[in-house]
Amino acid sequence: MNNLDVMEKIVSLCKRRGFIFQSSEIYGGLANTWDYGPYGVELKRNVKEAWWKAVVHHRDDMVGLDASILMHPRTWKASGHADNFADLLVDDKKTKKRYRYDHLTDEQKSRVGKDFTEPRAFNLMLQTSLGAAEGSNIDVFLRPETAQGIFVNFKNVLDAMNRRLPFGIAQMGKSFRNEITAGNFTFRMREFEQMEIEYFTRPDDAEKCYTTWIEERFNWYIKLGVRKDHLRLRKHGPDELAHYAKGCTDVEYAFPFGWSELEGIANRTDYDLKQHAEFSGMDLRYQDQIINEKFYPYVIEPSGGVDRTVLAFLVDAYHEEEVEGRTRVVLRLHKHLAPVKVAVLPLLKKNAGIVELAKKIKKDLQQQFVTVYDDTAAIGKLYRRQDEVGTYYCVTVDVESLTDQQVTVRERDTMAQERIPVDGLKDYLREKFTP
Ligand code: GAP
Repeated sequence: MNNLDVMEKIVSLCKRRGFIFQSSEIYGGLANTWDYGPYGVELKRNVKEAWWKAVVHHRDDMVGLDASILMHPRTWKASGHADNFADLLVDDKKTKKRYRYDHLTDEQKSRVGKDFTEPRAFNLMLQTSLGAAEGSNIDVFLRPETAQGIFVNFKNVLDAMNRRLPFGIAQMGKSFRNEITAGNFTFRMREFEQMEIEYFTRPDDAEKCYTTWIEERFNWYIKLGVRKDHLRLRKHGPDELAHYAKGCTDVEYAFPFGWSELEGIANRTDYDLKQHAEFSGMDLRYQDQIINEKFYPYVIEPSGGVDRTVLAFLVDAYHEEEVEGRTRVVLRLHKHLAPVKVAVLPLLKKNAGIVELAKKIKKDLQQQFVTVYDDTAAIGKLYRRQDEVGTYYCVTVDVESLTDQQVTVRERDTMAQERIPVDGLKDYLREKFTP
């Protein structure tokens, strides 16, 4: 399979099996916006849950936040986004197509001013207006990053939670950018979800925290099953750094369309807190009780995209293999990411006893595991359907189950089958899914 085939196959599987649909498809679609279907939404929830557990619940130095998408317009003046969050764009004079200047080849760049217009800045923030009464509306922006919701709440969290440095605040949620050239499926969208951490530290410790977070975040993808040779770290050159960053390292994934950013870990210094202090008039310094000193903490920011991560997990999990002369498509998603944990399948859908037992098992299991029941095809086809969406275990109920009260449990990756007593099934599965 060449790389572009893989991408095409994944896009097709996502639509066919209910992972990802084009938004507003019945109206012809809206470019670069996507909807998550029944399996997609489970996968996405699992990715976010895995992230939240790793960066909040399993640590002593982190708390969570869920700030609003709409923020006071001065936020964006303070953060620099109102003035600096722009891409340079050029128009192809003949086709009228728009391109990001930094995406042009050297040859294309040499034709700027001739075949392409001179580059001009294009602010990426999406704007809307708030208020019902005529004339009293205020223009606001849909946040282009979740990070600012954390900075403006720094003092609230500090006062409410009594935290000492170093500590971090994690948040996930929607962000919006009027990307000039979107594309590559869900890789670059105009509405997307971010998972961001702002980790506050003493300035002297910032470099150490930066290095530690790079390592932590790189390993998180590996722990969730991404092949190590499909990941790499890339340090930004000085010309690539965002207006607030002193240093930045990206975790990149080998997507079928080339190595691309999954997540950036940046040293934002004390830029944001200082800016918000200046624009709001509030004192956002940290009071160190031990040395009795007030200062602005430095901030290390691991910032990832939920949609890109979901896409990388899908690409990495997609496998085609020959089994008994037929191609088996299997999504080898990590067991904690698999959208469905268990499928309960009756061997004979016309046997009332088998169906009744299978439905009873399904009802029992679904209290703890995402479980589906399917009797709409022969067993071979049912297995293939479950493999294709990454279901971790298939539980088959057959004629013998009615007498010996045992079922066959088939594991997705090895296809190994085991007979397990019905009344021990829940414990068996619980043990398998324990981290
Ligand atoms: N607060 C820092 C920040 O927003 P960024 O590198 O612009 O940094 C962070 O974005 C992450 O958000 C990216 O690594 C990517 O995963 C995701 N992201 C950014 N723009 C995106 C887009 N248009 N579509 C999908 N994901 C995007």
